Amino acid sequence: ATAQVGVVGLAVMGRNLARNFANHGHTVALYNRTQARTDDLIAAHGSDGNFVPATSVEEFVASLERPRRIILMVQAGAGTDASIDSLLPHLEEGDIVVDGGNANYEDTRVREEKLRARGLHFFGVGISGGEEGALNGPSIMPGGSKEGYAQIGPLLEDISAKYDGEPCCAYIGPDGAGHFVKMVHNGIEYADMQFIAEAYDVLRAAGLDTKAISDAFREWNTGDLDSFLIEITSEVLDQVDASTGKALVDVIKDAAGQKGTGRWTVQNALELGVPVNTIAESVFARSVSGHADLRAAGQAHLSGPDQKFTPDDVAALIEDVRQALWASKVIAYAQGLDLIRTGSLQYDWDIDVAEVAKIWRAGCIIRARLLERIRSEYAAGNLPTLLAAPSISEGLANAQNGWRRVVADATLAGVPVPGFASAVSYYDSVRAERLPASLIQGLRDFFGAHTYQRVDVEGTFHTEWSADRSETKEA
Ligand code: 6PG
Repeated sequence: ATAQVGVVGLAVMGRNLARNFANHGHTVALYNRTQARTDDLIAAHGSDGNFVPATSVEEFVASLERPRRIILMVQAGAGTDASIDSLLPHLEEGDIVVDGGNANYEDTRVREEKLRARGLHFFGVGISGGEEGALNGPSIMPGGSKEGYAQIGPLLEDISAKYDGEPCCAYIGPDGAGHFVKMVHNGIEYADMQFIAEAYDVLRAAGLDTKAISDAFREWNTGDLDSFLIEITSEVLDQVDASTGKALVDVIKDAAGQKGTGRWTVQNALELGVPVNTIAESVFARSVSGHADLRAAGQAHLSGPDQKFTPDDVAALIEDVRQALWASKVIAYAQGLDLIRTGSLQYDWDIDVAEVAKIWRAGCIIRARLLERIRSEYAAGNLPTLLAAPSISEGLANAQNGWRRVVADATLAGVPVPGFASAVSYYDSVRAERLPASLIQGLRDFFGAHTYQRVDVEGTFHTEWSADRSETKEA
């Protein structure tokens, strides 16, 4: 046995992760069900480091030092279970199996329990950063036992991205905690991208060409909005299609795909009763984009406003859109982090939100300058919501005029801004002294005797709506 770590599944993410371990001086055992992938990796990069290619699961397991540390980079779902089942007969007590895919955290909980019962450590590990991150340093969100982390943590921290020299990998919590946090990361990723798309759309509707919009994003990336997604937006916008000579973004079909993590975030938020409005709008915006029939019917039957979007001051509009983008982004982070806090309480995970923000500062898809501020705000004290942090509430107060103008002007001109509008409505909802939920309570009591509470007297009340409309206090 010579290898310190093994990777099962050598599609692009697994391959790059294996290379990352090797580049850091670790000896890496390799196994892929289709041998050709292993051979390919050795042919292309075999001399970059120490690899131990295996042709069978037995050989693979035998090549690993104990306790064995095995990273599964296979297709989430059935692929993961099949890999686990093929490994199990060969593993011994104390060995560690890591699932590095985008698994549903509930599946991770089940798998962790199953492997724990056999004396093994199972880790559900969120890995973010795409292909490039896997190779050069991803953000890593590991969930599993503390004892197991002592064995696997240092290796993961070693290959993770670094922010000011600190690894973007930290123990998140037991069983499903890592995959839960990765799920919410992806939910925020959906919202971030939706806001970027809306910013692009508003500027486009105002008459800016793709080049001017790309320049705006490039400029934004030098300030508070500095982030990976803003940076690559200007690159995508700059790309010219070779066959038509048009901007590539103008020839890409406007129907967004999704693999499920955004949907899981919203489903889970519904279960836990945490409002993640902006993430939900972002998932639904992708759904709308893909509903060809619905959109064809809308285009055929629905009219827009007469008003056109003709700003007299383009520079001012660009600044307003920047404010809308920043403020909405803050709201999405606040909602996502609330979900993490609530999930942590629900499952007893004891997740440190400051640590989460800390390991998202580099390597992952949502890495952004804002995350350092979020980290320091959460580290400074227990926040009921990110929005209560002084530097955040102040930033939102400063951004709100531009943010509101964008939502209002876009709406008047018939440009859809579900993300921006949802974000500003959330902001106004949570700061409202009085919400119209009182009327909803009155209606519920009217048709269903669902009762209500009063602002002035303790207790539960009901009005006799179909009789004399007197009020009774429930016993
Ligand atoms: C990451 C990404 C990555 C992937 C997701 C989202 O953190 O590296 O989130 O995991 O992009 O699977 O995919 P969809 O947009 O297809 O749902």
